[in-house]
Amino acid sequence: MRVPFLAANWKMNMGRQAARELVQGLMETCAQVEGREMAICPPFHLLADIEKLVEGRPQVYLGAQDMYWQDSGAFTGEISAPMLLDVGCRVVIIGHSERRAMFGETDETCAKKVAAAVKHQLIPILCVGESLEEREQGLTEKVVTSQLHGALDGLEISDGRQLIIAYEPIWAIGTGKTDTPQAANETMQTLRQTLAQIFNEEIAQGVRLLYGGSVKPENIAGFMATSDIDGALVGGASLKPSFAQIVNY
Ligand code: 13P
Repeated sequence: MRVPFLAANWKMNMGRQAARELVQGLMETCAQVEGREMAICPPFHLLADIEKLVEGRPQVYLGAQDMYWQDSGAFTGEISAPMLLDVGCRVVIIGHSERRAMFGETDETCAKKVAAAVKHQLIPILCVGESLEEREQGLTEKVVTSQLHGALDGLEISDGRQLIIAYEPIWAIGTGKTDTPQAANETMQTLRQTLAQIFNEEIAQGVRLLYGGSVKPENIAGFMATSDIDGALVGGASLKPSFAQIVNY
């Protein structure tokens, strides 16, 4: 019932020419795959170009890497949900650990952004994950459940498809180290139980849970073979044509 979702987070990478070539190639190598969906989340300056390249392909979602919760106004440097919709976005990453660590993102700001995205029918991809220190202290469950409550308590949704969660252990991002599929799946089960508490069981069963952190063509199948991992949020390996192998796992 949950359609696999493979998402590319390009972070602060790519120029217009390279982006066009990569996306054109991906549209040939993986956009026709049945029974799964993919997302491309480029930096803002590439959204309009990529919107044209993915047009007419409902299984390919265009996404942004962040947004502000107000619709418009004197907020220099920010971008809003209506603006993202205007350029064809259907998803938006919220609360990536890099934004939490470097740009002052908190559970509170994530909550406002998630609520604004849902209000405008943009699907938030809310990111959660523990640091190495927290992992070593056995705090993974505590950290991720608290991040979920912090960003989602009080949110009203009627269908699990309105929300996506990405579990990205910080120590696995860009390091080549990955969680084991089994351990990641256990954390996902905790996340799903928490979603059932926040919303209800039916909604929790419909929310897609993505694993992120050094996902590659070689390890994607192991994650996708588990019960509760419904897809991946991919950084480094999404910048190459071989991202198609992840989508086509
Ligand atoms: P890497 O795939 O480069 O480890 O990045 C993961 C990530 O942060 C995706 O949002």
